[in-house]
Amino acid sequence: PLVTTGELVTRAVEARSAVAAFNIITLEHVEAVIAGAESVRSPVVLQVSENAVKFRYGRLLPLARAAVAAAERAAVPVALHLDHVQSDSLLRQAPDAGFSSVMYDAARLPYAENRAATRAAADWAHAQGLWIEAELGQVGGKDGRPPLDAHAPGARTDPDQARAFVADTAVDALAVAVGSSHAMTTRTATLDHALLKRLSGTLDVPLVLHGSSGVPDEELTAAVAGGIAKVNVGTALNIAMTGAIRDFLAAHPEAVDSREYLSVGREAMVRTVAEILRTLGAPPTA
Ligand code: G3H
Ligand code: ZN
Repeated sequence: PLVTTGELVTRAVEARSAVAAFNIITLEHVEAVIAGAESVRSPVVLQVSENAVKFRYGRLLPLARAAVAAAERAAVPVALHLDHVQSDSLLRQAPDAGFSSVMYDAARLPYAENRAATRAAADWAHAQGLWIEAELGQVGGKDGRPPLDAHAPGARTDPDQARAFVADTAVDALAVAVGSSHAMTTRTATLDHALLKRLSGTLDVPLVLHGSSGVPDEELTAAVAGGIAKVNVGTALNIAMTGAIRDFLAAHPEAVDSREYLSVGREAMVRTVAEILRTLGAPPTA
């Protein structure tokens, strides 16, 4: 069934686990994330990033409608989250498109501007009944910038600034920079667990880890123990899908039916989703 992100994160906090949020780009991503979650009977979040909307010719609704229909028919609780939103016009489409939550991304702005923009977005989101996540201490590697850009993986969220930011903006969750970086294709990130401990001790909102594809299993487990309640995964699905399709097409140069390689790509994503959910130890739904 379709549920809200807020309830899944609250449940994860209570269970001292984390809910996984997977970035969806194609219908195969939607189907694979739900099938993977069903295979381990775990709740899951489907998230659509602003970049994915750009890829879909700027249209949110076609993918969102498919995701809602799939979520409603899922055997596990599934929530829809709009990810890395910078555009106000996209933000405003969230409720009608079936999203119960948004991540408003103004982390690229100087602190005072990030705070003001996030405050305005949070006021609007709460009036709509949406749960809202924001980011402080930019997790780098987005938008094709190499992971070695100025913000990653060395960027860090300052606990005192984070405390003031959450109080001033009233956001429901905070994405923190603790050593992960977007779009890593190797699982080699090392997290700053001492900082994570300080952040979770200082803040009374759930913390979100971005760029989780580059985080090894044991680091992920430690991050959840240290207070991460939502784990965002995107690149890992693309690695699985693209690798499987590449191998299939290399072995079957005569193939023309797109279902043949899409199904191979989809099954590879199902396995990746199940593995990550098992690592996170999300509480089974039944
Ligand atoms: O918001 C999305 C995530 O931070 C995904 O990051 O593609 O590096 O796993 P990733
Ligand atoms: Zn992210």
